[in-house]
Amino acid sequence: MPKKRLTTTTDSAIRRAARQHDFLAPVFARYPLEVASAQGVWLTTSRGERVLDLYGGHAVAGLGYAHPQWTAALARQAETCQFQSNAVAMQVRERTARHLVRFSRLPFASVFLVNSGAEANENALKVALRVTGRSHVAAIEGGFHGRTAAAGAVTWGAQSKWYGFPRTPFDVSFIPRRDHDAIVAQVTKHTAAVIVEPVQGVAGAVDLGAPFLAALRSRCDEVGALLIFDEVQCGVGRSGEPFAANFYRVRPDMLTTAKALGNGFPCAALLLSPLVAASLKPDSLGTTFGGGPLACAAIEAVIAAIRSERLLERVRRVGAYIRRSCVVGPVTGHQGVGLLVGLRTARPAAEIQAELLECGILTGTASDPQVLRLLPPLILEEQQVDVLRDALRALPE
Ligand SMILES: Cc1ncc(COP(=O)(O)O)c(C=O)c1O
Repeated sequence: MPKKRLTTTTDSAIRRAARQHDFLAPVFARYPLEVASAQGVWLTTSRGERVLDLYGGHAVAGLGYAHPQWTAALARQAETCQFQSNAVAMQVRERTARHLVRFSRLPFASVFLVNSGAEANENALKVALRVTGRSHVAAIEGGFHGRTAAAGAVTWGAQSKWYGFPRTPFDVSFIPRRDHDAIVAQVTKHTAAVIVEPVQGVAGAVDLGAPFLAALRSRCDEVGALLIFDEVQCGVGRSGEPFAANFYRVRPDMLTTAKALGNGFPCAALLLSPLVAASLKPDSLGTTFGGGPLACAAIEAVIAAIRSERLLERVRRVGAYIRRSCVVGPVTGHQGVGLLVGLRTARPAAEIQAELLECGILTGTASDPQVLRLLPPLILEEQQVDVLRDALRALPE
């Protein structure tokens, strides 16, 4: 009997997918728009409408769309040599690692280039467990670190919602946000690492603050644990500094970054302190696609544009302008840092998101239902913020 039921379900699922002409796994809720092309901070839908993109593909399109130097760098690299593995030396890869460490303005010694935020976190946790020989990791309530076995294990709420693995690969405990006593209780000589998003993105741009991050740093030093900053969402200029670690002046042992790092070319990186880097030897870590030359060309172009277009200054200026001007209509307050903005709303943020989309403005929501999340390209300008402000003003409170 079960066999028959399975066949029926499978057949009906196939028929349903065929009817919808969509063979993509049905795991994503989708916004009601279809994008045909994009330029700067503007999307054009397949119906020819223009939409202001304040969500940037989950914080990925840092340079916006059709950025000429980024596009040219990818095309040039594609024509020159599109791929060689990490077993073969390539100047573009070595340059990229050097540029990334210098861009960070932090005392990192080396970079392990990978493909996604989850993969960067997976490797950071693996290195921490191996270096310390311990089996416990502390994470922070509300944090999101990715969907793979280790990254999901340290993601708040994953186990009750979607984790799927029968057990976590190490012991995990969660520290309530800004709870200094809990740091002392939970970060002990059994703890390999603490992993933290300095500004929690999916949670709604929740800024954990310098005192809490500094307390994590000093407790890690006391017990010999490693501090990992997950800057997959809040890094690469989004805080108005190269990384949130610069913004808060707290130095992690490892830092993971992805999303805006490649401006849409899939890539990620794990930056390592000299001590951690010294623990690695050939075969400690590995990847086929990580550090591919196309990804490296994209990263180089992103770093070069952030510098030449003075985007860090712009993020600070335009981020402050959003906070000054957009607490209007149904918005009652703001949180977050730079261009990782959470607008607190008087009614469900999902309602406001839908209303803004009808006005031609794409925004995001968060796991906090009263937070509208903005993750715009770092090239955003004040007059585009005015478009949002005017639309919010016209919405019911
Ligand atoms: C802070 C943070 N870490 C990790 C991830 C996972 O990154 P990826 O989807 O590239 O695996 C995300 C994705 O949203 C994120 O926001």
